Order: sequence, then C-alpha cells, then structure tokens
Amino acid sequence: MPQDSAPTLLRDGSPAAPAEPRRPAHGAAFDWLDEARDERRRAGLVRTLRPRPADHPLLDLAGNDYLGLARHPEVTHGAAAAAQRWGAGATGSRLVTGSTELHARLESELAAFCGFEAALVLSSGYTANLAAVTALTAAGTLVVSDAGNHASLIDGCRLSRARTQVVPHADPEAVRAALNGHDGRALAVTDSVFSVDGDAAPLPALAEVCRTRGAALLVDDAHGLGVLGEGGRGALWAAGLAGDGDVVTTVTLSKSLGSQGGAVLGPARVIEHLVNTARSFIFDTGLAPAAAGGALAALRLLGREPERAARAGQVARKLHDRLTAAGLAAVRPDAAVVSVRAPSPEAAVGWAADCRAAGLVVGCFRPPSVPDGISRLRLTARADLTDDQIDTAVGTILATAPTD
Ligand SMILES: Cc1ncc(COP(=O)(O)O)c(C=O)c1O
Repeated sequence: MPQDSAPTLLRDGSPAAPAEPRRPAHGAAFDWLDEARDERRRAGLVRTLRPRPADHPLLDLAGNDYLGLARHPEVTHGAAAAAQRWGAGATGSRLVTGSTELHARLESELAAFCGFEAALVLSSGYTANLAAVTALTAAGTLVVSDAGNHASLIDGCRLSRARTQVVPHADPEAVRAALNGHDGRALAVTDSVFSVDGDAAPLPALAEVCRTRGAALLVDDAHGLGVLGEGGRGALWAAGLAGDGDVVTTVTLSKSLGSQGGAVLGPARVIEHLVNTARSFIFDTGLAPAAAGGALAALRLLGREPERAARAGQVARKLHDRLTAAGLAAVRPDAAVVSVRAPSPEAAVGWAADCRAAGLVVGCFRPPSVPDGISRLRLTARADLTDDQIDTAVGTILATAPTD
C-alpha cells in the first residue's frame, strides 16, 4: 500500500486487510499478435508513431497542408475563436445537440464555393465517404469502384449492402462495361486525384458513361479541393460537373483547408437523405467547433487569395520535373501529390529515413497501402514552399536515393 494513502476501514472502524496487489493475468489470447508482428518485421512493413514537436526544424513534404494554411494566423484564430464561442466539443450528434450555427454557415459557404446546391459536414473525410456510399446504396445496387480508390471509399463499399465491382484504374470503358451488365440502381465511385500516385480520374468521361446508363457518380475530391478548379474550387468544378444533379462529391477539411473534418456536397435531396439515413453521420458526434471555425476561416482566405491553389500545382510540377530530369521515376502530378518509385519496401523506408536525417520529411507508401505492391516516396507540394526549399528538397532526395 502506498505510504500516503489512508487505510480502508471496516464498519467497526478497524482497518481492512490490505488488498492483494493485482497481478496481470497471463493471457494467451493475443499470442498470435507476436507472430503477426514478426511477419511485419520480416516483410519490412513495421509502422511506428513518431510524435512531432510543435516546432521542429525539418522541411515537411509529407503532410497534406497543401496551401500552408494549418498554421496561418487567420485559420488558427478562427479555430480558437470558435472553441471559445461554442465550446471544445460539439457535445453530441448533429441530430441532437451537435449542430451549431457555425456548422450551418460552413455548409452553406462550402457548397457555394464548390458550386453545389447543399453540403453536409461530418467529423472526417473518412466518415463522409462512409456516409455517402452507404446512404446512396442498398441491396441490389451495383457499385462500380476504381481499383485505386482510397481506403475510406473501399470501406464504404464494404459496409454497404450493395454488390461492388472493382474496375481497372481510371478506365471509363471498364465502368461502362460494368454498368452495361446491370439493371437497376448503380453508383460509380472514384477519387478525383488518387492519393498514391497523384494522378487524376477522367471525370468528364466517367460522368458521360454514368449519364448514358442512368447511374450516379460519387467523387472523393479530398486532394482536389483547394488545388484544382478556379481558385481551388475542386476537381468537379474543373470538369464542369459542379452542381450536376447526378453527381455527389466528398471532401476533407484536413488537407487544403488545414483543419479537420469532412463534407458531402450534392443536390439538396441527397443531403436531406444523408441526414436521415447515413449512420456515420447520425451516430457520430458533430465536428468540433474549432475544426469547423478553422475550416471556415481557411475557406474565406482561399476565396480572397485564389492564387494559392495554382501555386500548389506549380510546386508539385517543379518537384516532378527536377526529380525525373535527374533520372528518378515519378508520376506526373495532376494536383499536389508527387509519387516517386522506390525499388522495395525496405529501400523506401531507408530512403525516407535518410531524408529525415538530412532534414526533410517525406511520406513513405508501402503495401498494404498501395494497391499494386509498389513502394513509393510520396511528396506533397505546398503553396508556401519557397524556391530555396524546393532546391533543398530535390537535393536531399537525390543525394539519398537508393543506388539500385
Ligand atoms: C482520397 C482521400 N479520401 C479521404 C480521406 C480521409 O479524409 P480524413 O483524413 O479527413 O478522414 C483521405 C485522407 O487521407 C484521402 O486521401
């Protein structure tokens, strides 16, 4: 018993016998985890958390803060002011107590900015994708899903009771063939910009295929909002599909808008349906006011400074052009993600570690996060990177590149 704790007394005032110290029971139920861990080690696929200090001197090409807004004073002030006005948490589901006037304002400004009739804000882009896929499908619906889609769309398909047909990457004719074989409701789902390679989906062709087959199109614009379209209005705007009655899009507030949260945008009747049926909306606490306030401030700032969107794309293309000119294999970026091939998972991990040791943080994508088993360094361009920082990043990546 600790020296400073008072003894527990029995009813007659006498001290109770000290409790036996709790011994950890030996459990074998999780022994299989050791085998799984060893397997990960053998395959070079161990993941570790690396807590980031508030101020570190490293150059960051791994985060998704494409416009450099996460620490912009207007955005952090928007977040702080919202927390002070509305509280640290939303206090409940949006349908109970968690819907504030701030959420409503964010929804109407986001919808107007992106050119859609209505929007619904959720706690993350992940839950937004679960909401959109599950609420817009039912048993008997065919979902046609691009092989390169983000895990959150894939999980939405898994949670839905629909039949999912995975089609080859960025292939409208494969979508057409899948839809041709189906009678009844159908939904085609795709990322706008694929998170692994940074390439863009052929949205106009996909929309045309869906239109001819009477199917709906759901586009995850996590990597397009803030980078593509006039002033960063997104990939649907760029493709002339914003506001189309058969098109729904999801976005995250955690990348270009530098905050946290997600949203579904589309026709008002789709949003009304989601409010009534989407489980990841209904059974989830509303987005924290600070995140809503930060995202709203970022959205307004982007409206005033549209050049940030174009700059993010320019930085990405500059990184790509310099790295490929030096002989590396990189995919030409359609937005702000630049993907550089690595010879193996181990080489990718070592390369990223060497970059870090030299002061540069880059992403490292390995199986199972990559659908084709090819490991990559993943670089994210930021609108606020200076030319000197781009030079430093390119120099570091080339100097640490694996030799075979
Ligand atoms: C394409 C895509 N969709 C959805 C998400 C999920 O967004 P969030 O991080 O807001 O949950 C991500 C985030 O990594 C993403 O890259």
